[in-house]
Amino acid sequence: MVEVQEAISKVIEKAQKMKEQDFKKKPSKSWDSKKNDCPYDQCNGNGFQIIEQDGRTVAIECDCREEQIISRKLEFATILEEFQDAEIVDFKVDNEHYKKAESRKFAEVCKRAAAKYVRKFQEMKKKRKGLYFYSETAGSGKTMLISAIGNELIHQHKAKVKFATAGDLLNAIRSTYSRDSEISTHELIDAARKVEVLILDDMGQQSIKSDTNDHLFDILNHRLNHPVVTIFSSNCKIEELPYSFRIRDRIKKMAIPIHAPEESARENLAEQENDRLYEKLLTG
Ligand SMILES: Nc1ncnc2c1ncn2[C@@H]1O[C@H](COP(=O)(O)OP(=O)(O)O)[C@@H](O)[C@H]1O
Ligand SMILES: [Mg+2]
Ligand SMILES: [Zn+2]
Repeated sequence: MVEVQEAISKVIEKAQKMKEQDFKKKPSKSWDSKKNDCPYDQCNGNGFQIIEQDGRTVAIECDCREEQIISRKLEFATILEEFQDAEIVDFKVDNEHYKKAESRKFAEVCKRAAAKYVRKFQEMKKKRKGLYFYSETAGSGKTMLISAIGNELIHQHKAKVKFATAGDLLNAIRSTYSRDSEISTHELIDAARKVEVLILDDMGQQSIKSDTNDHLFDILNHRLNHPVVTIFSSNCKIEELPYSFRIRDRIKKMAIPIHAPEESARENLAEQENDRLYEKLLTG
C-alpha cells in the first residue's frame, strides 16, 4: 500500500513538473491560451486527471496525454503564418487567378475535392485515405489549399493537424542524431507516425540523403496501417517521386492523386496588382 501511495505521489509530482517545464518552454501568451486546454475537459491541460478513488486522491493519465506528447514532439510543424487563417472558400477558381480555362477546371476539381474531403473526414480516416495534390508549376495554390484543408479539419473536426514540408521533417529527424538533441530520433518518428493528420508539403523537392527512404518509409508505412491520414503536395506525380519504390507504392495506397493547375495564380495576381498600381500612377 505504501508503495502504491508513493507511486501516486510520484505521478502527481511528475505532472506538476511537466506543467512547470511547459511553463518555462512556452512564451506566456501561448501558455495562457493553452490553459485548461483539454479536448475532453478531463484535466486542466497537463495530461493527468486527479480523481478520488476509494477515498484516495489518485492521478491517472488523461486521454489527451498521448496527443499532447505527439504535439510537443512535432512543435515545429505548424501551418505557415501566411496561411494560418486560410479556408477553402479563399481558394479562388476565377479568371483573375487562372487565365487558362484548363487551369480553372483543374482548380475547381481541387476545390471540390478539398471541401468534400473535409466533409467526409471521419469516413476518410477510417479508410486511411488522404489526398495528393501535384502540379509542376509553382504558385498554383497547392500549399494554400492543403493549409486550408488543415485549418478546416482543426475547426470542424477538432483534428490534430501537423504541417511540415517533407524536407523540414527529414531535417528535424536528422537533427535528433546529435547527442544534445532534446528528443530521440525514435520519439520524433513515432510522433510523425501517430499524429491524426500529417500534411507534407513539397514532397520530393528536398535533396535525397541516404537515410531519407528509411525514415519516410517508416513513417508512411505505419500511417497506412492505422486510422490516420496524410495530405501531400508535390511538383511531380507519385510515380515520379525520387524515393524508393516501396515508398511510392505506399503513397499510392494512402492518397488520392489530384492534378492542381499548371498556372501560377501568384504571378497572375502580381501582374494585376502591378497593372492597378500603374494605372493609379498614371491617372492619380
Ligand atoms: N486559387 C487561389 N486562390 C487564391 N490565392 C491563390 C490561389 N492560388 C495561389 N494563390 C496565391 O498565390 C500564392 C502562391 O500559392 P502557393 O499555395 O504557395 O502555391 P504552390 O504551393 O502551388 O507553389 C499564395 O500566397 C496565394 O496567396
Ligand atoms: Mg508550395
Ligand atoms: Zn486532458
